[in-house]
Amino acid sequence: MAILVTGGAGYIGSHTVIELDKAGFDVVIVDNFSNSSPEVLNRLKTITGKDFPLYEGDILDRDFLVSVFEKENIDSVIHFAGFKAVGESVEKPLEYYHNNITGTLVLLDVMRQFNVKDIVFSSSATVYGMNNVVPFKEEMPTSATNPYGYTKVMLEQILNDVAFSDSDWSVTNLRYFNPIGAHESGLIGEAPNGIPNNLSPYITQVAVGKLEKLHIFGNDYDTPDGTCIRDFIHVNDLAAGHSAALNYLFNNENLGFDAINLGSEKGYSVLEILSNFEKAVGKEIPYVIDGRRAGDIAVCYADASKAKKLLNWEAKYTIEDMCRDSWNWQKKNPNGFKD
Ligand code: NAD
Ligand code: WQD
Repeated sequence: MAILVTGGAGYIGSHTVIELDKAGFDVVIVDNFSNSSPEVLNRLKTITGKDFPLYEGDILDRDFLVSVFEKENIDSVIHFAGFKAVGESVEKPLEYYHNNITGTLVLLDVMRQFNVKDIVFSSSATVYGMNNVVPFKEEMPTSATNPYGYTKVMLEQILNDVAFSDSDWSVTNLRYFNPIGAHESGLIGEAPNGIPNNLSPYITQVAVGKLEKLHIFGNDYDTPDGTCIRDFIHVNDLAAGHSAALNYLFNNENLGFDAINLGSEKGYSVLEILSNFEKAVGKEIPYVIDGRRAGDIAVCYADASKAKKLLNWEAKYTIEDMCRDSWNWQKKNPNGFKD
């Protein structure tokens, strides 16, 4: 009995593989390395002592996926594989819809063929859109402002419909807030291609000298210091959330579709994050204030009570832990997995 982890070489997937291994699950990884490096597998081996079965291939390739299901005794699936860059999705909508939506449709179809009907899906707080009021709760209406966000809104609908059509399906749809941090070994972490879009890798790349200064997108929001507020969550906490989600799937049958927030429930402003990183790094990090970035909302944080109730999960890591671990990863691997 094994858990198929699509996108298992990626940022959240690789941390989840370690957590699943610790919890005693057998893991099989599928990844096409479109946004990750095969070096991740060596690092996972150093951390866990294990060679996880890795199938290099594309989830869009049905025959490839069928061959994986034929070789491995897959019991359930954690589905991370997808593209995730908001800005890029505006430039390349067809690539995003195809990879994220068609890829998931192919995966679900192959799962059905092999009668594997338990799935944990990576959704995002982005589905709360622009019009909800914090803290975000699962029953709020969903919407999006960019193709990436629409892929998540649409996939949630598709998964909901699949679960409704056949009561054998159990879908745990996890909505992550803002994942940061890295494994405490500093061997794996977030390694964005090119200039990072997200705040945490941008800050650490300024701190390590790869970028000149942070550009803060707006300080005129209706928040105490004028900068946006986000719910940052340590990637290890997210990883533990997946293990909890699997236990929930295994201990219950015919769950249908459940959307569950994975967030810390705490909001920190961009300036507060910056100051926490300065403490972790031990020096000032230069920044300038720029204009607002299109599509940003002022405040975003979770109500995570459903995760506590259903999964017996809550975030444990502090913002200090998150900044320490992100920095530890960055300073040991200034060029990501190319080092
Ligand atoms: P990531 O890019 O690091 O990992 C995704 C992995 O999937 C990569 O290793 C990539 O090579 C692989 N992949 C992509 N398309 C594939 C395909 N067609 N076939 C096989 N492999 C493929 O991203 P991540 O940050 O680990 O995110 C994982 C999931 O969580 C994504 O679905 C993302 O949308 C979602 N998510 C991420 C965040 C975040 O801020 N990191 C927040 C909310 C939700
Ligand atoms: C956080 C805050 C920026 C970079 C995104 C996706 C979301 C989810 C998580 C996948 C914002 C500010 C950022 C910079 C800045 N991903 N910022 N300077 O936008 O909350 O969420 O990642 O599902 O879908 O939209 O995260 O890290 O990009 O931004 O001032 O160089 O930092 O304006 O207020 P965001 P982020």
